Amino acid sequence: MRPRHRTPRLLGSLLLVAAAGISVAGAAPVAGAAPADPPAAAKAATPLDRVVPAPASVDAGGTPYRITSGTRIRVDDSREARRVGEYLADVLRPSTGYRLPVTSGGGAGIRLKLGATSLGAEGYRLDSGKSGVTITAKGPAGLFHGVQTLRQLLPASVEEDSVQPGPWLVAGGTIEDQPRYGYRGAMLDVARHFFTVDQVKRYIDQLALYKVNKLHLHLSDDQGWRLAIDSWPRLATYGGSTQVGGGPGGYYTKADYKEIVRYAGSRHLEVVPEIDMPGHTNAALASYAELNCDGVAPPLYTGTEVGFSSLCVSKDVTYDFVDDVIRELAALTPGKYLHIGGDEAHSTSHEDYVAFMDRVQPVVAKYGKTVVGWHQLTGATPAKGALAQYWGLDSTSAEEKERVAAAARNGTGLVLSPADRVYLDMKYTKDTPLGLDWAGYVEVRRSYDWDPGNYLAGAPGSAVQGVEAPLWTETVSTSAHIDYMAFPRLPGVAELGWSPASTHDWDAYKVRLAAQGPRWEALGIGYYRSPQVPWPAE
Ligand code: ACM
Repeated sequence: MRPRHRTPRLLGSLLLVAAAGISVAGAAPVAGAAPADPPAAAKAATPLDRVVPAPASVDAGGTPYRITSGTRIRVDDSREARRVGEYLADVLRPSTGYRLPVTSGGGAGIRLKLGATSLGAEGYRLDSGKSGVTITAKGPAGLFHGVQTLRQLLPASVEEDSVQPGPWLVAGGTIEDQPRYGYRGAMLDVARHFFTVDQVKRYIDQLALYKVNKLHLHLSDDQGWRLAIDSWPRLATYGGSTQVGGGPGGYYTKADYKEIVRYAGSRHLEVVPEIDMPGHTNAALASYAELNCDGVAPPLYTGTEVGFSSLCVSKDVTYDFVDDVIRELAALTPGKYLHIGGDEAHSTSHEDYVAFMDRVQPVVAKYGKTVVGWHQLTGATPAKGALAQYWGLDSTSAEEKERVAAAARNGTGLVLSPADRVYLDMKYTKDTPLGLDWAGYVEVRRSYDWDPGNYLAGAPGSAVQGVEAPLWTETVSTSAHIDYMAFPRLPGVAELGWSPASTHDWDAYKVRLAAQGPRWEALGIGYYRSPQVPWPAE
């Protein structure tokens, strides 16, 4: 059942989840005298397999490596490898207080090495022993993911932005790791509430920690248009001028948007931009009267209903508009995908919906991009190579599920975002002060405990390109709100996307997840302390 209403409950009682800053990478190296190395503590190093997402293979053993004031980060002579080295140094310097120079060449210390592995474009090998830690990967994305693993092998206090005592031990042994799926996404709805470039960057940093590699931005909806389009300027200046609840909204200039794309790229995430069409378009319809079949612009909308707006499928100007928007957006998009929405088009007839998608999908291809659409796209004819993002529920009709499965058998790729599993805007329980509940309550175990490989009956496992955790923002308007709804569910979805099915085990996962709590505290992430997870005592 698709909801027609998404009216937030308890809007009046939105809690103020502890707002806090995050220690972002980029802090300056600590000047002056480095602190003396503390004596080696009896405290054991974090076991190599206590990482989220679970590594594909772990061979623990041998002497731990200890990061000290003399440690160097050694990188191959490549700009990309050096960049990953600098990122690692930025993470480690504030809390260790060490200089950690990034230098080229071999030797003891932390080594980031580009080299042949059989672990794919994103995989890496991490070897740790007495004289150092070496991360080897085919490409910079693999080095970056290896660095995230190394980060989690260090004590949670490594995430603090002031000098901590250490010691900084990395357990001995070898990890060989690579992702199960190439598409490991998170979506942020910046339309219902606008989020600034810095707020988006904060989320990107959180996603990177869990090896998420796609940031889907829901850039337009009934309540707001969030990206400047030169050929249709009122979309942003007028259509972006409000949001749910009537606040001031906002939009990204092209320079802002490029900065988001650049920052995401520096964390090895690809931005998947979405312009939702033909429904969810009130902000555009309000900005340009000619886009409406009756030529009359509706008022801006600040409520939370869905399904009441549609571009005018029979007008040529609609396709001029779509062409201009997709052209300008594709030019800002280094990634492969462009998402055209297609959900909840309740005010578009089926015939019009099919005609619209038949005309719009080739425009995406014309500008060199691959179509992604919400799974309703499978009710039209998905373009060759298109991905359908499935957001159904257990209770979705067999007919609708079969339509998606049939498209998958026919070559349409699937990204799985079942709303009653991975919609991060669903309340955890009836008492969750933020979020919606039309897909039910989604506690941490429920969001983790399913297998993307055999989730949708009748869809071949090979059609599944990955998973994505969408965060709709009808009730979410601050970074503290994002933190509270994403954590601890987001890391579980990231694990479903990365880790081999053979590692899937709730009882083991919840222990690894619990160990992340202190890390989030050090990062200033206010999370939901689910009673399902054995968190360390506060
Ligand atoms: C959706 O939740 N309407 C994709």
